[in-house]
Amino acid sequence: MTPDTDKAARELLAFYLEAGVDAPVGEEPVDRFADTSLSTSALAEAVGEGSSPVGEAASSPLDSRSPPSPGSATPSFSAAPPSPDAAAMAAREAVKGIATLEQLRAALDAFDGCALKGTAKQLVFADGNPQAKLMIVGEAPGRDEDIEGLPFVGRSGKLLDRMLNAIGLDRTTVYIANIIPWRPPGNRTPTPQESQICLPFIQRQIELADPDILVCLGGPSAQTLLGIRDGITKTRGRWFSYHTGKREIRAMATFHPAFLLRSPLQKRLAWRDFLAIKKALGI
Ligand code: URA
Repeated sequence: MTPDTDKAARELLAFYLEAGVDAPVGEEPVDRFADTSLSTSALAEAVGEGSSPVGEAASSPLDSRSPPSPGSATPSFSAAPPSPDAAAMAAREAVKGIATLEQLRAALDAFDGCALKGTAKQLVFADGNPQAKLMIVGEAPGRDEDIEGLPFVGRSGKLLDRMLNAIGLDRTTVYIANIIPWRPPGNRTPTPQESQICLPFIQRQIELADPDILVCLGGPSAQTLLGIRDGITKTRGRWFSYHTGKREIRAMATFHPAFLLRSPLQKRLAWRDFLAIKKALGI
């Protein structure tokens, strides 16, 4: 490579990274729309909805591309991923009989129903004190969380820490997790299917941690856990009832710190929410 092409390649990579393309899955782009050999039945089979035995998926046209070069991050398509419904059912099965948070972490580590596991570096399970009265649930890990294996350690995590400190709390007095425990590529918003697949795990995590108060950070977390349709601007600051499986607890949705970083004027409303949380905790 000449210095010029080397520089151009570096600039292109920097551009991709900036645009959120940070999970390479193959050396050559593949135009699936142009692939006429991919029939509807083969596609159904590839996504796990066909009637053919799973073993046949290995001969699907999805496998006809060249084998991955050594060391490349190309995933194997030899086993078709389960359909979202089948994966959600597998998740519900996986949490049955789980009695401790350690068992839950191990069950998540062994769970292959969510495709995000394949592109994330590692599982991001939780941080803080599982005995805390307050549990906070965000959306999904970002780049920093994926690297460290802990939720809310990046820029929005630092803001969350400051907001918690302002009401006399820190990571020894709160328990923090996410709806989705694997980073979506490029920090994209998780799809509703991905959230539904992971929902049984976070529900069991809340049940086992057994907090007195649950706080959902951002619309997707509130919609997934509290079952509300309205956006976060309408729902934030209101108390909801959440059934943990053991008991009813109070739950509130507030703005996600990443949103507050982009819209600092909304911090005054978030501050109001945090004061209400402080009061509910009796501190
Ligand atoms: N945003 C989230 O929702 N969760 C994290 O852990 C980090 C950023």
